[in-house]
Amino acid sequence: MVYPLSDSQLASHVTLHQLQVFEVAARHGSYTRAAEELFLTQPTVSMQIKHLTKSVGMQLFEQVGKRLFLTQAGQELFHTCQEIFGRISQFEMSVADLKGLKQGYLKVTVVTTAKYVIPRLLGPFCQRYPGVEIALKVTNHSGVLERLAENKDDLYILSKVPDEPDVKAYPFLPNPLVVLANHEHPLVGEKNIPIQKLADQPFITRESGSGTRGYIQQLFDEHKISPTIKIELSSNEAIKQAIAGGLGISVLSKHTISLEGASGQIAVLDVQHFPIPCHWYVIHLAGKQLSVVAQAFLEYLQTEGKELAESTTW
Ligand code: PGA
Repeated sequence: MVYPLSDSQLASHVTLHQLQVFEVAARHGSYTRAAEELFLTQPTVSMQIKHLTKSVGMQLFEQVGKRLFLTQAGQELFHTCQEIFGRISQFEMSVADLKGLKQGYLKVTVVTTAKYVIPRLLGPFCQRYPGVEIALKVTNHSGVLERLAENKDDLYILSKVPDEPDVKAYPFLPNPLVVLANHEHPLVGEKNIPIQKLADQPFITRESGSGTRGYIQQLFDEHKISPTIKIELSSNEAIKQAIAGGLGISVLSKHTISLEGASGQIAVLDVQHFPIPCHWYVIHLAGKQLSVVAQAFLEYLQTEGKELAESTTW
């Protein structure tokens, strides 16, 4: 027998906020990470889940060692929450669509190299649609894939399109990877430097999980080169500073030097097999129904945004 919603015992005791807290805690398997994501304190998360557990009348989590696992009731509730929040976000989208592009929310996550281009392209888009609010997240390749798997954003920009999950990918801009050295480095000015010479140089590398690092590793493996790693840094800007400080050479996206060019303290070396010809793609989950705002931004990136980027880089 199906009761009207208003007759449901649970619906009158459980709040959407409790379900939201539970969903995030279940996704992370951690109250602490849920508190971080929701900008709440850990005791608040714990209290909300306690109330929810009481209303459900069964344990939702079980603790084994330091890890939290969902009980069977917890798993059922987790799936229910995903359906509820999926429906709510569809409803939000329909309302935003009804209001057209006058207002809306756009969530975009890009790899660290794209942060040298995307923020600049947001200006004209936001001027055209002043009611649109944009959240831009910058992380490395693995970070983008994690957010994609959790369906956290509308659009993503990265170089290597994943095989899984199923995505739609739109080519965006070239993202060549170049060898960078201090402007006083002895190899500056040399032509067609054999790639093997890089093995003797102190090398500054990005962190594991970085797409840039993946491409370099692949090229070095093809040429059987083991670079002498001097230091690992997870920021392109920190790597540029380290190069300027004479710590070593590195390979980064050419976009990372687009503002200052190669005229400052950093020079591009002319090494065989470089630049590595990467290309950025705008992607979204294949099954995702894009909102009007996300669709408009995707079209903007493929047309005017792309032209603007091409005219202002290098
Ligand atoms: P990343 O960027 O090094 O910041 O992960 C890689 C990419 O261009 O996809």
